[in-house]
Amino acid sequence: MNYSAWARWYDIAYSTVSSDDVDFYTARAKEIGSPVLEIGTGTGRISLPIAQAGIDIVGIDLFEPMLDVARRKLADLGATPGGLELLNADMRTLDLQRKFNFVFAPARVLLLALTPEDQLQTLRSMATHTEPDGRVAFNFFVPNEDMIHGPQGFPYVYQGIAHPVTGNRVLFWVVDRWDPDAQTNHGLHIFEELNETGETVGKTTIDVAIRYIYPTEAIVMIEDAGMVVEEAYGDFDRSPLTEESSEQIYICRPA
Ligand SMILES: C[S@@+](CC[C@H](N)C(=O)[O-])C[C@H]1O[C@@H](n2cnc3c(N)ncnc32)[C@H](O)[C@@H]1O
Repeated sequence: MNYSAWARWYDIAYSTVSSDDVDFYTARAKEIGSPVLEIGTGTGRISLPIAQAGIDIVGIDLFEPMLDVARRKLADLGATPGGLELLNADMRTLDLQRKFNFVFAPARVLLLALTPEDQLQTLRSMATHTEPDGRVAFNFFVPNEDMIHGPQGFPYVYQGIAHPVTGNRVLFWVVDRWDPDAQTNHGLHIFEELNETGETVGKTTIDVAIRYIYPTEAIVMIEDAGMVVEEAYGDFDRSPLTEESSEQIYICRPA
């Protein structure tokens, strides 16, 4: 999935989303301490608050336009109490030649590796970048069978957002195309900007691809990557991961 086109929409789309995950990962980073590594750091939505909390963090991302947004936001803040280093790198082949106390991949980043092999390799990279007594954390959604096997292939409005600069209404449309055999969704994200009379004044369509992971598969992958699950949650409020959960959140340690 190419995040270059997402860069100008990412923070707008996230402006109405709960920041519970930011609080969760920031609290963990403070508890465990520097240095921290974020995989798929994007526009700095989580790495900037962590640096502001006095923790030294390295954020890696494959797409320069996403990193450029983070760099602009960091420059606007001036100095942060903790250092933030932003690096262009691929999570599947990461080799920074250093270890961190806390390594995390939030916001379903692991699903952007599109094969089980690439997902496992990403988890292995995360494990090898972690100190022996450090921790690894990540989260992604629990596959929803009703959606995967239900009606799909048509656009539905996922969010309505006010554009922060133009004030125009932006409709965030999603098209899902689930493939249960490959465990993928090759869909579309569409941002449509409407003026005050409801006319379309701009439209951006972005291809989306993810490979989803079931909880049972996640546990096997974590073990194959040389880690042990210490905590598993179904929500950022730390409620347990159950069959009703919509999110999978894992905290692991190297085995
Ligand atoms: C859903 S965004 C998450 C951004 C940020 N962590 C957050 O929580 O707001 C996923 C990020 O992963 C990055 N990404 C996708 N594939 C990647 C890869 N192979 N290696 C590193 N980063 C990748 C994208 O560019 C994007 O910034």
